[in-house]
Amino acid sequence: MLLAAAAVLWLPLAACMQPHSGAVTGSVQPIADGSATGIGGAVASSEANATVAGSGILERGGNAVDAAVAVGFALAVTYPAAGNLGGGGFMLYRTPSGISFFLDFREIAPTAARADMYLDANGIPDAAASTRGWRAAGVPGSVIGLYQAHQKWGRLPWTDLLKPAIHLAEQGFHITARQADSLNRQHLAFSQDPMAARVMIPSDQRSWSEGDRLVQVELGATLRAIAESGEDAMRKGPIVERTVAASIAGGGVLSAADFANYEPVVRPVHRIEWNGLALLTATPPSSGAVFLHQVLSTLEGQPLAEWGFRDARTIQLIGEATAAAFRDRNRYLGDPAGFDFQWELLLDPAYLAERRRSLRPEHYTPPAADLPAPPIESTETTHFSVVDANGGAVAVTTTLNGSYGAKVMAPDGFFLNNEMDDFAAQPGVANQFGLVQGRYNAIAAGRRPLSSMSPVLVLRDGAVDAVFGSPGGPTILTTVLQVLLNRYVFGLDPQAAVRAPRFHRQDLPPVLRFEAGRLDRHANQALDEWGQPLSRTPSIGDVNAIFRDLEAGEWRAVADPRRSGLGLVLPLRKN
Ligand code: DON
Repeated sequence: MLLAAAAVLWLPLAACMQPHSGAVTGSVQPIADGSATGIGGAVASSEANATVAGSGILERGGNAVDAAVAVGFALAVTYPAAGNLGGGGFMLYRTPSGISFFLDFREIAPTAARADMYLDANGIPDAAASTRGWRAAGVPGSVIGLYQAHQKWGRLPWTDLLKPAIHLAEQGFHITARQADSLNRQHLAFSQDPMAARVMIPSDQRSWSEGDRLVQVELGATLRAIAESGEDAMRKGPIVERTVAASIAGGGVLSAADFANYEPVVRPVHRIEWNGLALLTATPPSSGAVFLHQVLSTLEGQPLAEWGFRDARTIQLIGEATAAAFRDRNRYLGDPAGFDFQWELLLDPAYLAERRRSLRPEHYTPPAADLPAPPIESTETTHFSVVDANGGAVAVTTTLNGSYGAKVMAPDGFFLNNEMDDFAAQPGVANQFGLVQGRYNAIAAGRRPLSSMSPVLVLRDGAVDAVFGSPGGPTILTTVLQVLLNRYVFGLDPQAAVRAPRFHRQDLPPVLRFEAGRLDRHANQALDEWGQPLSRTPSIGDVNAIFRDLEAGEWRAVADPRRSGLGLVLPLRKN
C-alpha cells in the first residue's frame, strides 16, 4: 500500500516534466510589486531522483520545506556519498511572508570527545583517526534537523515526505556511471566495514556498472521507522542502540545520551546589503556570513566589471580578498557557544575599510607562514535549492564531510560522518582541507565544528532572486562568492553563472587553484609575474541553484554541469 503510494507520488511526475540536463525553465507569474509572494516552484539537486521527489511534493501542494525534506531523505538513498541520515547540515528558509530562519543541524562533538583525542603519543595529529572509522564521527543531526524543520514550517503529513526515499531504498534505483565510479573507488574502504561491504559491494564482488540497481533494505527499514516515529527514531530505541554498539565495537565514542540530547539550533540570519541586493547568509558555526561580508566589502569600489571576468587583476584581487577573509575565518571562528569572541567584530566597518585600503592590485601577498598542502582526499557534500509556488525558499547544504563520511555504516544502513575532522585537531595544524585553524575551533564536548557550508538566498526588491550553495570544503566559500559575482557583477545568465570555470585561494596553502579555462595565457603570465603560486585543479564545487529570470518572468533551476544533478521547474500553481 505504502509502496504503491510512493510510486504514484513520483513516477508520473517524472514522466510529465521535461528534465533537461543542466537547467529547466517553466512559466511563472512575473513579479508585479516586488513583494515576496510567489510564483511557480522549482527544485535543483545533485541527483535526479531526489529532484523528482522534491518536485512531486511541490506538485502535491507541499511547501518549500516539505519538498526540501523529501529531497534530503531521497539524497540519503540515492547519493550515499554525501546525502545522509548520519551527518548534518544547514538550512536557510525564507517564508512566503518574508521571515528568514537559519536552522543549524550540524553534528556536535560527542560528550566523550576531548581536545587531544586525535593526537598521537608525540602530540602530533593523526589524520586517519579524525577522518576514518567510528572515532571520527560527530553526533548526527540530519534526521532531527529535517524533522524539526517540518514541525516548524512544513505543511504536508510527515510520512508523505519519506515515501519517495523509502521507495528508492527498498525498490532500488539505477545508478549512473558517475555513481558506479564513486562506489568502485571506495571498494577497499567498504570491504573493511561489514555493513558497507554488504550493501555497497555487489554480492559477487564484481565492480558496479552504470544501470545497476542499488537496493538498500536496511536503510529502507530505517526510513520507515523515521516515517513512523519522527525524530524519536534517532533519539532512542533500536536504531540508536545498534549504532552506539557498532560505534563502541569500532573504537568510537558515541553514546545513547548523545543521540537523546542532540538539538538543532535556530540561529540568526546575517543580511548583507550589496549591490542593490540583500544577501541572506548563515552565521557561525557557518563561516559563510563572515566570509561573504568581508570579501564583498573588501572588493567594494573595485572596477571588476570594467576589467572583466578574465582579467588578471580581477582574479588576483578576488584572491587577495578571499585569502584575507580565510585568515580571519581560520583564526577567529568556531561554534559561538562557549567562547568569548564576538564574530560581529570581524565585520566592523572601520576594520574592513582598512583592509580595503591595503588591498593592492597587481600584487601577491604571501601568507604569514607557509605549509605544505596536504593531499586532499576525495570529498563530497551536497547542496539543494527549492522554491515553492507561494514564494517560500529553502537552501540546504548537507554533508558527511568526506565522501561516504567516516566510511563506516551503521547496522541500520546509513553512513556515519567524519565531521570531527572539521575541528582543529590541534590548533595551528592543517586538516584534510589544508585549513589551519585556531583555538576557537578546538574540539570540546557538545561543540559544533566550524563549517564552510554556506547556503545563500539573494533578495531583489524584497523578493527571492536566487537560492544556491555548493559542496567543496573551503572552496564552498569561494564558489558561492563567484556565483554571486558572475551573476550580479559580470552579468552572466543563470546557467553561465554556474557553469563558468572557477578558482580558489584560501590563505594557507597560498596557491591559487583554478579550473581549466579560468585563466587564459595572459592572466596566467601576469599572476605568475606577481608571484602568485598557481595550480590547475580538475573541478571546484557543485552548485545547485534557482534564479529568477526577471526578463523572461521565469524561475531557472540550474544543476551544475560539473556533476550530474537535475533542475526542475513547475508550471504555475498557487497553493
Ligand atoms: O562543513 C564543512 O565545511 C565541510 N564538512 C564540508 C565538506 C565538503 O564540502 C566536502 N565536499 N566536497
